[in-house]
Amino acid sequence: MTKRVAILISGGGSNMVALAEAMTGDFPARPCLVLSNRPDAGGLTKAADLGIPTAVVDHRDHKGDRPGFEAALQVALLAAQPDIICLAGFMRILTPDFTDLWAGRMLNIHPSLLPKYKGLDTHQRALDAGDAEHGCTVHEVTGELDGGPVLGQARVTIEPGDTAATLAAKVLPCEHQLYPQVLRRFASGDRTPVFLP
Ligand code: GRF
Repeated sequence: MTKRVAILISGGGSNMVALAEAMTGDFPARPCLVLSNRPDAGGLTKAADLGIPTAVVDHRDHKGDRPGFEAALQVALLAAQPDIICLAGFMRILTPDFTDLWAGRMLNIHPSLLPKYKGLDTHQRALDAGDAEHGCTVHEVTGELDGGPVLGQARVTIEPGDTAATLAAKVLPCEHQLYPQVLRRFASGDRTPVFLP
């Protein structure tokens, strides 16, 4: 059965585009919604250009009311009836009350080799640690921030002279390769992790 996928974004949505463009032919999923917490997210226009329904749940309408924001998120998601949720550059922290509603059905991509460098500024932290390699991880979303079971990783080498910006530029294309491969397996019920290269 072809799974319905909602993709949550906050910015440019390059990972959303990679996922949407992969979901064709025999791919066992199709995008049913692109939702952003920011009305000005560039990815919303890209989604509309791809013919994908879009929605906005502006977190600024729920200042200091995380449960209210998550309730509005849930209403918008249920209207689209997704089987799977992909967080793709979604920059709001979700509470366990919300993640529990989608346990086993929500994925995220994070720009580090988890469990290293949960949270923000991952590229600079890898540089500061003197790591020889870096990369990105797709994981199931649980109540623990960036802590769920790993479903895939892609590695890049850190070279002399690399900066946070050059590392980010190396990692992002790897995300675009990794996420669709993980989603293809996940949508077909296969949780065997993907490791690139
Ligand atoms: C990416 O670095 C991703 O790892 C992080 O958000 C950044 C922007 O992603 N989660 P996108 O271009 O909006 O997909």
